[in-house]
Amino acid sequence: MNKQPVDLAQAYRLINPGPVTLISVGDGAEDNLFAAQWCMPVRVSPPLLGILVGKDHYSWPILERTGTFGLNIPDEGMVDAVLGCGRTSGRNEADKFSRFGLTRLPAQSIRAPLVAQCVANLECRVAMVHDMGAQALVVAQVIRAIADVDHFRDGAWQFDRGLTLLHHLGASRFGVLREVIVGKLDLSREPGA
Ligand SMILES: Cc1cc2nc3c(=O)[nH]c(=O)nc-3n(C[C@H](O)[C@H](O)[C@H](O)COP(=O)(O)O)c2cc1C
Repeated sequence: MNKQPVDLAQAYRLINPGPVTLISVGDGAEDNLFAAQWCMPVRVSPPLLGILVGKDHYSWPILERTGTFGLNIPDEGMVDAVLGCGRTSGRNEADKFSRFGLTRLPAQSIRAPLVAQCVANLECRVAMVHDMGAQALVVAQVIRAIADVDHFRDGAWQFDRGLTLLHHLGASRFGVLREVIVGKLDLSREPGA
């Protein structure tokens, strides 16, 4: 995989389609991963995104303490690793990376490792936490993003080389995104336009 930096002004496009993600946390002494589907872009510039995090997750105090996390975007081939990271807790699982066949990729600006097998990795710094009781809505600034140039080119996901993004439908079911269609509506051609 040939990963190159993504222009931060275009980083929102990495999560615009709403793929499931693997959130990595770490403080240098320990690290962990969990699956997260509830993620969204919040602002283009500065690049902000939001994630919903269960406060009972083992990952939460690490994320809260460090104020940073990695957001990693898996493809179809990683579906069982996603389920594994989303159905086990770092409380009982010593190392989810090795348990689910994932490789640590050192980040540049945060202590949490990134997931090497993922097609894109975003390094994020927490900007705001909205406490929602059992969950926290975390808004974070993307401070670095990299993506596989085979699949993210010209500021957009490209599906001509076999990319399949994963979307959680509920339970163990996922959908895949593997094709682009282009809308043909041209409002300038309507009468009176
Ligand atoms: C497909 C999938 C999507 C999930 N999405 C989220 C999410 O958006 N936010 C969240 O807090 N937990 C989500 N979870 C649950 C956590 O990943 C799960 O509770 C995990 O075991 C927490 O890990 P930890 O205790 O090691 O931190 C999801 C689980 C799955 C399987």
